[in-house]
Amino acid sequence: MIFSIKTSTPEKQRSACAVVGVYESRSLSGVAKHIDELTGGALRTRLRKKDLTGKQSQTAMLYDPPGLNAQRLLLVGCGKKEDLDLAGYRKVCGTAAAALIDSGCRDAAMWLLDLEVKAADVAAKARHLVEAMEDACYRFDEMKSSNNEDPKLQRITVNAAGRDELEASGPALAAGVAVGAGKKLARDLANLPGNVCTPEYLAQQARQLQQSHGFKTRVLEKKDMGRLKMGALLSVARGSRQPPKLIVMEYHGGKRGAPPIALVGKGLTFDAGGISIKPAANMDEMKYDMCGAASVFGAMVAAAELKLPINVVGVVPSSENLPDGDANKPGDIVTTMSGKTVEVLNTDAEGRLILCDALTYTEKYNPAVVIDIATLTGACVIALGSLASGLMANDQSLADELLAAGEASLDRAWQLPLWQEYQPQLDSNFADMANIGGREAGAITAGCFLSRFTESFKWAHLDIAGTAWKGGKEKGATGRVVPILTQYLIGRSRRDPA
Ligand code: BES
Ligand code: MN
Ligand code: ZN
Repeated sequence: MIFSIKTSTPEKQRSACAVVGVYESRSLSGVAKHIDELTGGALRTRLRKKDLTGKQSQTAMLYDPPGLNAQRLLLVGCGKKEDLDLAGYRKVCGTAAAALIDSGCRDAAMWLLDLEVKAADVAAKARHLVEAMEDACYRFDEMKSSNNEDPKLQRITVNAAGRDELEASGPALAAGVAVGAGKKLARDLANLPGNVCTPEYLAQQARQLQQSHGFKTRVLEKKDMGRLKMGALLSVARGSRQPPKLIVMEYHGGKRGAPPIALVGKGLTFDAGGISIKPAANMDEMKYDMCGAASVFGAMVAAAELKLPINVVGVVPSSENLPDGDANKPGDIVTTMSGKTVEVLNTDAEGRLILCDALTYTEKYNPAVVIDIATLTGACVIALGSLASGLMANDQSLADELLAAGEASLDRAWQLPLWQEYQPQLDSNFADMANIGGREAGAITAGCFLSRFTESFKWAHLDIAGTAWKGGKEKGATGRVVPILTQYLIGRSRRDPA
């Protein structure tokens, strides 16, 4: 979809469909009042006759509205004026997008920026309007032999009230478009099945981003990992016929030599658990075990599309985790790139094994901060459900910045403690540490494990096991955590511009 923003008036702005919001309270926003007058009271009549009460998620389509330069007029319920917050506003925009797709319109003029939204300025509204509409239009039918018809909706004009609003919301709209593109890439990669989206496939995608987005891409092969003594990463890959890859993408938007922000994403393209094999139910969803990697791809694309004046390096360790005669066995001891040894008590705790070597490798970039993103633990899903990603960090100001970025982008995270007192759960009788810490505090002990490989830099860990995809009837990748990561990168580029 192509989004543009301008100042116009409903009588002039030509479109297949004009879209305006109506509150449940019958009070009309400024634009709604204006459209009501132009149409000879179409809005008030509908509200009076209760064709539309203004409840959230209600819509009504009017054809050939008089007084407007639009073929249709879509009224969207916004609920009670005093209750409308940013999450509600996103629902309103998503509902509008769904109705527009149903109607088969090719373009639309949105008159939704003047709705009063709690704790949101016009920029936030513009950004979330774009993201919500992109979400509503997302389809994944690449793998169906007869593709369902793509939505016809192509062009969206967002209307601002005046010059000030236009200036305030222009960059925000661009941010929404960039996050939308990043999310789409992340969702597409994640939704692909494990037999298509292999470590090699991810490496190919990274090489393509070198062409399309100017990244400097390098792919480390098995022999390179051997040379670097990445014993933990290699041990996970031993059970698979697909060779592992360590994918490195550099985006240079900042000063030459300025320390980059490193994003490290778990890229398990399928996690069967290995010898500690998972139960059969829903095992297909373990194709989503590369969602951390997908979010790194997505956030880097968003940063590049916004031409952010910072340096970012993405590091993606990628492998499968399968049972095999040569696979990791419970009790095996592996030596990580850092030199520390790990007793593999459960081969299904493989994410931390591939991440610890990737984190050690990241040291060579002398990063300003490192954020790893991983579908790491089922325990995190039990702790936080699907609303918040789990956040752990060895630096509180980094944690605070990420929490704030999550609030602003409506892609929230919640911090869990990384207290020293949890560390002994990882004690091993035979190696420097075990790769599991028992049933208690499973998300935290996974974080504790990673913390032992991140002592030389500022580091945060996002456990996205509960947020990266939805199961059940709505099964599909969500594109989280591209928004919070992009928001954080935008914040960083404001703080230390090139
Ligand atoms: N990829 C899984 C985590 C996961 C499980 C995410 C279910 C989403 C839903 C990870 O590799 C894993 O298997 N973790 C184990 C760790 C355990 C063996 C300590 C888990 O969470 O059960
Ligand atoms: Mn696992
Ligand atoms: Zn896993």
